[in-house]
Amino acid sequence: MQEVSNDALVFFGATGDLAHKKIFPALQTMVKRGTLNVPVIGVAKAGWTLEQLRERARDSLEKHGGGVDPQAFAKLLSLLAYVDGDYADAATFRSLRKALGGAQRPAHYLAIPPSMFSVVVQQLAATGCTAAGTRVVVEKPFGHDLQSARELNRTLHAVFDESCIFRIDHYLGKRPVHNMAFFRFTNAMLEAFWNRYNISNVQITMAEDFGVQGRGAFYDQTGTVRDVIQNHLFQVLTYLAMEPPVRTDSEALRDEKVKVLKAIPPLAAVDLVRGQFRGYLDEKGVAPGSRTETFAALRLEIDNWRWQGVPFFIRAGKSLAVTCTEVVAELRRPPTVFPTWTPRNNYFRLRISPVNELAIGLNVMDEEEKAVGQPAELMASRHAGPNEMDAYERVLTDAMAGDRTLFARQDYVEEAWRIVDPVLEAATPVHVYEPGTWGPNQADRLAPSSGWHNPDLTESASL
Ligand code: BG6
Repeated sequence: MQEVSNDALVFFGATGDLAHKKIFPALQTMVKRGTLNVPVIGVAKAGWTLEQLRERARDSLEKHGGGVDPQAFAKLLSLLAYVDGDYADAATFRSLRKALGGAQRPAHYLAIPPSMFSVVVQQLAATGCTAAGTRVVVEKPFGHDLQSARELNRTLHAVFDESCIFRIDHYLGKRPVHNMAFFRFTNAMLEAFWNRYNISNVQITMAEDFGVQGRGAFYDQTGTVRDVIQNHLFQVLTYLAMEPPVRTDSEALRDEKVKVLKAIPPLAAVDLVRGQFRGYLDEKGVAPGSRTETFAALRLEIDNWRWQGVPFFIRAGKSLAVTCTEVVAELRRPPTVFPTWTPRNNYFRLRISPVNELAIGLNVMDEEEKAVGQPAELMASRHAGPNEMDAYERVLTDAMAGDRTLFARQDYVEEAWRIVDPVLEAATPVHVYEPGTWGPNQADRLAPSSGWHNPDLTESASL
């Protein structure tokens, strides 16, 4: 079915941080690319004027959008309107309806805390802003556990059909993530190895060499599992593990991803190691004595025909040694032929950031020809081109065009919470680690026998 495009974009939280860091830069590139040509209405309760919002947009582009493009920015300003008011006040939404003019099917982007979703969607419905074709775009977090996610879904479903709800997980908008299914299902060579007969373990690492960057109050309520594992890294995991979709439409693809989650048993406390970087407790907004994790390592299994018995490891953390997201799938070790050396496991390595890399790890003979192995990699690397879409541009463009492929579906979100729910409040110890390291040593007890693969940004020839 051909989806209809939205005829206006309304974004709530227009004066907030997300708009400043991500939304204005995405809007300018959309205008430049010609994919945004409808009214854009910012809504917030800040006591601002349209002029102030325009200044904020300029500042956002200078700081986060690679600078102001005079032509595109002028066009964006001509599309931009602003409604100031309280979300609990019906008058705000009457002003919004007026600002929408002839637009009948806007996309409402809720770049606001989820606690405000309920009041906003109800007001939208009450003031005639939710006619057929209207979409609602929401930001993570989609709840903080299974129960709250279900409540949030009920709130949204009270007004919007699931097909009109677009839950942004910006990781899905990253080209290397988006590319994973394509890469897997267009390369026979890879697919032949991609199963329990050949793969011994899979590691997904998301390391960040910075701390909570002034987001202490938010982070302290969230922690690593909720912030990036239950959403971003599970998305990576499902792309890695899914079966080929039977068709290429959004639902066929999302069905396969949900099936992967359904095959994962709930996490047990013993399969999780949590850490906290030294100094976290001094961050603004962090509760005294907080036990929130800034690092997590976990082990899970996908109990299905393809993957049964293959452990999947996920590690993520703040204030680690480098900033990099990478997947390494190790193959089973070949039998030993040369008595001088036991071969190392071959592997596939897929680096998602900072640069997209695809590599195959092999063994070659050492330089002195003593039949002692040396690691080597066949590697292809790809830098983002100047015209490449940033994740936010991609997801906003897709949402307004009605393409659901890169958004989290309700059943997906709930399955993901089901898996992590048992460990969210479990009283597992939180081990302190030094900033700039690979997290607490206690995580080593979870590692596969070949050890953790720590992404190395200094060399790309071998691990
Ligand atoms: C966000 C998390 O969703 O993703 C942040 O809240 C994290 O804590 C960020 O740093 C990582 O995204 P990216 O695109 O910067 O790698």
